[in-house]
Amino acid sequence: MEAFKTRRDFLRASAVIGTGLVLSNCGGSNIKTTGKVATSATPDENKMGGEVTATEDLMREHGILRRALLVFSATAIKLRGNPAAVPPDALQKTAKLFKAFGEEYHEKKLEEAYIFPAVKKAGGDAAGYPDILVAQHNRGREITDYIISATQAAKLGPTNAEAMAQALDAFVLMYRNHAAREDTIIFPAWKQTMTAKQLDEIGDRFEDIEKEQFGGDGFEDAVKQISAIESSLGLTDIAQFTAPPPPKG
Ligand SMILES: [Fe+2]
Ligand SMILES: [Fe+2]
Repeated sequence: MEAFKTRRDFLRASAVIGTGLVLSNCGGSNIKTTGKVATSATPDENKMGGEVTATEDLMREHGILRRALLVFSATAIKLRGNPAAVPPDALQKTAKLFKAFGEEYHEKKLEEAYIFPAVKKAGGDAAGYPDILVAQHNRGREITDYIISATQAAKLGPTNAEAMAQALDAFVLMYRNHAAREDTIIFPAWKQTMTAKQLDEIGDRFEDIEKEQFGGDGFEDAVKQISAIESSLGLTDIAQFTAPPPPKG
């Protein structure tokens, strides 16, 4: 089956498929054994894998950012062991991806523009979070700027390696907390402020913003970028992260 690049492509295609189903049933065979009249297909019924909702979209964007955090953590360990073994280029690419995809798109264009204002307006427990989350976005921007500028040199020297490792660790701890709260408190609260129809519409709007920002599928491109960075650092094989068995008691 053709892969639909965007929700719009899919809706267009499913409208055609739906029409086909109605036409092919014109001989009166559209009465199913249940006695219900078959209606044209709704989007979720026919698409392989279903469509990406706005909240799923936000959470898979967090997946990209979490993979960047894993790169930062691995780098911080290496910096403390053998700073010369850390290619500054890989660190810089990761910070630039976090900035372009996380800070300038996910945070600025989606969370700060749509999600946080709606959650604050709705009140309740979740409304207490956006102010500190924005403060964390801003601190994150300072740290990614620092990483980008400190990695201009060909090598990270022993003098700035520990400072960099500390900045990376602090950044990782902040964003692990940040994204986990957004996934479990903020995004569910935001979803509660909309009907299913409104959620679908905002999903389309987010898709438009993504296209405008990246000129195409920003998510797919980000997956490729983080995969290439992981590969350059020997982090691709997930089996290396399988935990050892626990000690025998
Ligand atoms: Fe955020
Ligand atoms: Fe987020």
